Amino acid sequence: MKISKVMVIGSGTMGSGIAQVLAENGYDVILNDIKEEFVARGQLSIIKRLEKDVTKGRKTEKEKDEIISRFQLSTDYSDAEDVQLVIEAATENKAIKLDIFKKVAELAPDETILASNTSSLSITEIANATNRPEKVIGMHFFNPVPVMNLVEVTRALTTDDHTAETILKLSEEIGKTAIDVTDSPGFVVNRVLIPMINEAIFTVYEGIASMEEVDESMKLGANHPMGPIALADYIGLDVCLAIMTVLYEGFNDSKYRPCPLLKKYVEAGRLGRKTGSGFYNYS
Ligand code: 3HC
Repeated sequence: MKISKVMVIGSGTMGSGIAQVLAENGYDVILNDIKEEFVARGQLSIIKRLEKDVTKGRKTEKEKDEIISRFQLSTDYSDAEDVQLVIEAATENKAIKLDIFKKVAELAPDETILASNTSSLSITEIANATNRPEKVIGMHFFNPVPVMNLVEVTRALTTDDHTAETILKLSEEIGKTAIDVTDSPGFVVNRVLIPMINEAIFTVYEGIASMEEVDESMKLGANHPMGPIALADYIGLDVCLAIMTVLYEGFNDSKYRPCPLLKKYVEAGRLGRKTGSGFYNYS
C-alpha cells in the first residue's frame, strides 16, 4: 500500500509540527481538530514557520505555496475516508484517545494504518479499542517536530510486521531517524529523559542547588541544549508528571516516584511555557 494522504488528528504543537513535516515531504495532509478555530490556529503556526524558512532562504516562495496547497482542514473524522494513514496527536488523555481511535477506525478504510503520537499511554490498549489492532502503532515525535530528528515507532503486542515496516519506512522518508521499539511504559526516550528531569527537580526540592544552577550545570557539564528544569517547562509539567506516573505505576517501582515539588506545580496550574509560568516565568 502506497501512503500519499494522511490525516493528522490534533492541530496543537505536536500535530501541526507533524503535519508540516509530512507536507514538506510531499504528502497530502488533512489537519483535523474538534473546532475550526483550533485547526485554523494550527495551520497559521505552520504558515508562520514556512514564512520564516523563506526569509532565511531555506525555501522559495513557490515551495512554501506548494506545501500549503497540500493541506485540507477538517473537523470531521469521516474525512479519513480516503487516507492511508491517520496520526493522532490529540491531548494526552486516555479516554479522549481511546474514543478517537474507536471512532476513526469505524470510518477509515480497512487497510488504513492508525498511529498514535502518545508519549505515555499503552499502544496495545489503544489498539485494542479499534477494529484493527494489527494496524495500530505508535509514532512518537519530539518537540519541536520540524527540528528533532527521532521518531519512536512503537509496536503494540498486536501490531503486524507489515504495519511496522511501512511506518518505519515512512518515518525515514520524512527525514527522521526511526527506532523500532516494543510497547513498554515511557518507550525509550521518556523512560530515560523524564526520570532525569524528575531527579533535577528533586535536587532543587532538597535545596542542593537552585533551579538556575541545576540548569546551568547540565548545560555546561553534560552539553544539554537546555537545562532539565527549563526543558520540563518546555515539555509541560503536567505531561512530565503524567509520564512519571505511568513509569511508577507501569513498573511498580519506587525509583520512578514523582517529586512532590513537581506535583505541587501541577496542582497550582503552573504547567510551564504554555500557561505563562512553571518553574520559570514566561510573561
Ligand atoms: N518549530 C520549528 N523550528 C524551531 C522551533 C519550532 N517550534 N523552535 C526552534 N526552532 C528552530 C529555530 O528556528 C532555529 O533554527 P534556525 O537557527 O535554523 O533558524 C533552531 O530551531 C534553534 O532555535 P533557537 O535558536 O530559537 O533556540 P535554541 O538554539 O535554543 O534551540 C531548541 C531551541 C531546538 C528547542 C533546543 O533548545 C533544543 O533542542 N532543546 C531540547 C529539546 C528537546 O529535548 N525536545 C524533546 C522534548 S521531549 C518530547 O518532545 C517527548 C514528549 O513525549 C515529552
